[in-house]
This record gives sequence, structure tokens and C-alpha cells, in this order.
Amino acid sequence: MEKLIDIRNVRHAYKTETGPLPVLDGLDVSVPEGGFVAVVGPSGCGKSTLTRLIAGLMKPDEGEVWLHGERVKGPRSTVGMAFQNPVLLEWRTILKNVLLPLEIVPTKLSRKQGEERARFLLSLVGLEGFEDKRPSELSGGMRQRASLCRALIHQPEVLILDEPFGALDAFTREDLWQTMHRVKEREPFTGVLITHDLRESIFLADQVVVLSGRPARTQFVLDIPSSGPRTLDDLYTPEAAEQLNILRHQIQIAQGRAPAEASQPDPIRREARA
Ligand SMILES: Nc1ncnc2c1ncn2[C@@H]1O[C@H](COP(=O)(O)OP(=O)(O)OP(=O)(O)O)[C@@H](O)[C@H]1O
Ligand SMILES: [Mg+2]
Repeated sequence: MEKLIDIRNVRHAYKTETGPLPVLDGLDVSVPEGGFVAVVGPSGCGKSTLTRLIAGLMKPDEGEVWLHGERVKGPRSTVGMAFQNPVLLEWRTILKNVLLPLEIVPTKLSRKQGEERARFLLSLVGLEGFEDKRPSELSGGMRQRASLCRALIHQPEVLILDEPFGALDAFTREDLWQTMHRVKEREPFTGVLITHDLRESIFLADQVVVLSGRPARTQFVLDIPSSGPRTLDDLYTPEAAEQLNILRHQIQIAQGRAPAEASQPDPIRREARA
């Protein structure tokens, strides 16, 4: 399958007052068209930096970032992004917040078509009837749903989600995981999900990439079979427990709390048991 996102041997250091801070060192991530890859790793290892590279908001010191066969050189409108704290404009209604990207980046959609699409997306995430409310009238989970619609309004080639559910309580988060499956079925996209939640990673993604501590390299890749957990009950099966144990162990290695396996190829790639 064609690699829609292809990040090859990327190295990057931020310039700081006290000298260069190496953040990425040997990062390889590739996502096929329609794929959904979750990226997990210790706090501060460089995950958000990775999202900025894909979005073309910054260039790496070394290595290559490719999107749909083209070298990424600057920001692109074909990338949709959603973050942990959705920034919605309080003076605009929910509908108008979702429509905002169409006002900033030109679109082929007429005003009416844009509005129809925004209404469709809002109903897909369960926000039908809230189109004319203001952001402060919505709960945190509802605001996150609206922010997801805003990220999808342009039918992005790539959807980047940087800990989008991190600030939500466990039950709301699980609701949104199910919403994500529904959205992906109706509005197929190629996705990268940054998360701290291993259950979320195996529930939503078809591949989980574990990054090492800073400077981050690709330490481990776990392929989740298509029969992997897709309902909340599936998260309690022996197969899911095994996937979570493998990932938990890799995170401990990344944090320096467990020794790396002696003969491990670099990075290890494993297909989880179906
Ligand atoms: N613009 C910047 N200038 C200098 N240092 C930066 C800049 N942005 C990030 N950093 C540093 O680079 C490192 C990686 O940051 P990044 O935000 O990519 O980590 P992260 O993996 O997303 O962390 P978290 O899990 O806490 O969100 C951190 O040590 C951070 O302090
Ligand atoms: Mg981050």
C-alpha cells in the first residue's frame, strides 16, 4: 500500500539559550493511505514535534518528511489537526466555529455546501441540535467533538490528533473513542494519534509506534490485527491484555525503568496475536 506519510531518519534539535536540545534522533514513521497510527512515548520525548513536522509547521535538521509522494516544505491545507484543549471562538456559534477553516483556506465548496457539510459532521459526532450554541454552553467532551468536526471540514488527507482526549474523564473518553470509529467509517482519513493512553492506542489505531526517551527514535512498532479491540468489551480480552503488556513494557524501556532486550533489532516490529 502507498505510504501516505513517510518520515525517514529524522533528526532535530531545538536551539535554546543553553545550546541545542536534541529532540528527535532517528525517527522513522510511515502510515499507509487510510491507516491510523498511534504514537506513544515518554512525556517530552518529541511527539508534538513530530506532529509539527507532518503539518509542515517546521523543518527537520536532517532526514525527510514526505506526504503523498511530495517532500513537505511548508504548511498544508490538506492536514487537519485537533489538540488536547480545543480552542473554539466564544463569539461564534458551534456551526460557525466548524466553518472557520473554510473562511481561512479557500475551498471548492459553496457557502451552502460548506454549511451542509458542517451540519452533517456535527450530526455524525452527536452534536445535532447544538449548531447555534456557543462553546461555553457545551461540556468538554462536546467541545472536543466540535473541534474534531472543524479538523475534518476540509476533508483533510491527514488528520493529526495530539492527545485530543487527554483532558476528558474516562467515560467521556471512551464515548469519543466509539465516535472516532463511526467518523472513520463515514469520513475515511489517514490518521496520526498522539496519546498517553495505551488502551486508547490499541482501540483506535492499526499500528502503535513507541518512541524512546528524548532524543526520540522509533523504538518499537506493534501491528494491531484488524480483528483487534473494536468494542469496549474487546479491551478486556486476553489478546488485548497481551498487547497492553507488550506496550507497557516498551514504555518502561523508553523511560529507562526496564533494560532493553539484548538482541533487539532496531526498531523491533511485532504483529500482535489475533
Ligand atoms: N519551540 C521549542 N523550543 C525549544 N524547545 C522546545 C520547543 N518545543 C518543544 N521543545 C522541547 O522539546 C522537547 C520535546 O517537546 P514535545 O512538545 O515535542 O514533547 P512531547 O513528547 O509532545 O511531550 P508531552 O508528552 O509532554 O506532550 C521538550 O523537552 C520541550 O521542552
Ligand atoms: Mg505533546
